[in-house]
Amino acid sequence: MALKRIGILTGGGDCAGLNAVIRAITKCAMSRYGTTVVGIRDGFEGLLGEPRTLSLTPSMVKGLLYRGGTILGSSNKGDPFNYKMVAGDRVTTIDRSDEALQNIRNLELDALFVIGGDGTNAIGYGFFQRGVPVIGIPKTIDNDLGATDVTFGFDTAVNVVCDAIDRLQTTAESHHRVMIVETMGRNAGWIALQAGLAGGADVILIPEISWSVESVAKAVHARRKMGRNFTIICVAEGATPVDKEQVIKRIVKDSSETIRLGGIAHQLCEWLTPFDVGECRGTEMGHVQRGGTATAFDRNLCTRMGAYAVHVAARGDFGKMVVLRNSQVATEDIYEAIKKIRLVEPDSDWVAAARDTGVCFGDE
Ligand code: F6P
Repeated sequence: MALKRIGILTGGGDCAGLNAVIRAITKCAMSRYGTTVVGIRDGFEGLLGEPRTLSLTPSMVKGLLYRGGTILGSSNKGDPFNYKMVAGDRVTTIDRSDEALQNIRNLELDALFVIGGDGTNAIGYGFFQRGVPVIGIPKTIDNDLGATDVTFGFDTAVNVVCDAIDRLQTTAESHHRVMIVETMGRNAGWIALQAGLAGGADVILIPEISWSVESVAKAVHARRKMGRNFTIICVAEGATPVDKEQVIKRIVKDSSETIRLGGIAHQLCEWLTPFDVGECRGTEMGHVQRGGTATAFDRNLCTRMGAYAVHVAARGDFGKMVVLRNSQVATEDIYEAIKKIRLVEPDSDWVAAARDTGVCFGDE
């Protein structure tokens, strides 16, 4: 089918590689189909009220391969189907999807490329059901989308955390300290697991494996006995000890999430104090994991997914998400794709290899 005019939006938390996807879609659509490309600002929010758009010309996408963030802007707010209105303590939701739909129609798009995680793609699917020609592209640094082997942004985050662990190793050794590095990962511990393993962490704590503070303390003491006077612990923000409450930063009202996680590294320092493990310091990696230049792996994944997505649209195969399956780009129904969450399997080879090389998961 003709792709005269297409739209692109990026929604949810940003990550490295978003600009590389925008570039790939734009370059492929222009060179292969002579398409006009319209960027929609700030995710679905840009489709509410007066539509906020940006013309994506070849000069606009120059240099985007290396640039972090998203030139289109992104937002965790503004789900048109459940638009949150906050007045003091009261939160109400209203349906503004008709308004967004009218704006999409007015833009006369032959395809709308929705780049985001499960939340953003679920909204995209909602519009697909109402007749919008949507193609989904998966993004999340948490790497928890079941439909794809890997999401872009994840490899970059793992490398950022691994680099931090390398640096923390040297200072931990100098001061004989316990260093706790906290990664993102609400329900899935992929970043903590892969960065922890690559960085040689002694203890890795993830939401998928039950753990206790006592067991972590035991691991620190065991290392001391072996003459290792420092310990590196890598913990995912969503990881919670069996007998304690999840550590949250605050309750949020105006976002798609209801709680903001963060703080487990510092809290774990406190919890470890009575166990006489010595000096303990926490480092919260936070949004450093999402910012900056994407790794070569992520850039290439973005380019492959972006270009492929354009051809999927040209075939008229809408309602699909572009995924990576067995190292090949492929498609899956968005509806099916957003249902599958990819968590770390406690009996996977990843966990087995870590245990075999002495990593403690706080459950022994
Ligand atoms: O969904 C990805 C994620 O990185 C989570 O791991 C994290 O809790 C969240 O985004 C933080 O997002 P923000 O601070 O932008 O609301």
